[in-house]
Amino acid sequence: MPPLALVTGGASGIGAAIAQRLRADGCAVVIADLTDAKIAGFAERTGIPGLVCDVADFDAVERMAGALEARFGPVGVLVNNAGITRDAMVHKMTRAQWDQLIAVNLTATFNTTRWLAPGMRQRRWGRIINISSMTAQRGQVGQANYAAAKAGLIGFTKTIALELAGFGITANCIAPGFVRTEMTAAMPEAVLTAEAARIPVKRLGTPDDIAAAAAYLASDAASFVTGQVLAVNGGQYL
Ligand code: NAI
Repeated sequence: MPPLALVTGGASGIGAAIAQRLRADGCAVVIADLTDAKIAGFAERTGIPGLVCDVADFDAVERMAGALEARFGPVGVLVNNAGITRDAMVHKMTRAQWDQLIAVNLTATFNTTRWLAPGMRQRRWGRIINISSMTAQRGQVGQANYAAAKAGLIGFTKTIALELAGFGITANCIAPGFVRTEMTAAMPEAVLTAEAARIPVKRLGTPDDIAAAAAYLASDAASFVTGQVLAVNGGQYL
């Protein structure tokens, strides 16, 4: 039977593209996102169901994981994609900006892995795909919180890759460069155009570029690939 995939933050942007690509590749897919409205809108557009869950909340994720497996079956592919930005120069960053960002962009991946990896271990198969960022690898002015969380994901992923390798479970990161989504729409167009000019392939990424990488890592073709960081950035950080 094809595996069931959970994509966090799946109602928009990169997560939405990953959810649709995994479904096209034969997975059953469920998303988790913040509001009923986002889940319902996505389900209407794509037919892919979802559960409301703030993945930064440890107890809510435990409840969601239970409800998900009771309603849809065991999760084989976990894509930790939910993410936010709370940009500020570090000398002006508030405690709240730091804490909120770490909770969503780092702790949430611990939460979902904590509650979904045990079932994968029992079934001796799984794919965990964590969406990091080029910012983890090179830094980015105004994003110390984001860079720290995304770099934390890389260390987390390498460690769970080691812990789970004997159970048929791989864990990898994707590190996207600039991708056009709601997240980057907050940036001035002139900045995005300047970034695109600096990218060796001379364009920004699309959500589908990232979804193709996720589809590979979720596939049986990638069963010998674990603990890696796959950069999908047009050659921007070499
Ligand atoms: P987006 O803002 O379009 O989508 C993020 C989704 O996550 C939204 O649907 C949002 O509701 C959901 N979300 C946020 N907090 C949540 C929470 N606590 N619980 C559940 N869902 C939550 O963002 P985009 O651009 O699609 O980003 C997706 C991932 O890719 C993020 O982790 C981001 O950091 C990462 N990324 C994005 C890049 C870009 O250029 N857009 C570059 C590198 C990484």
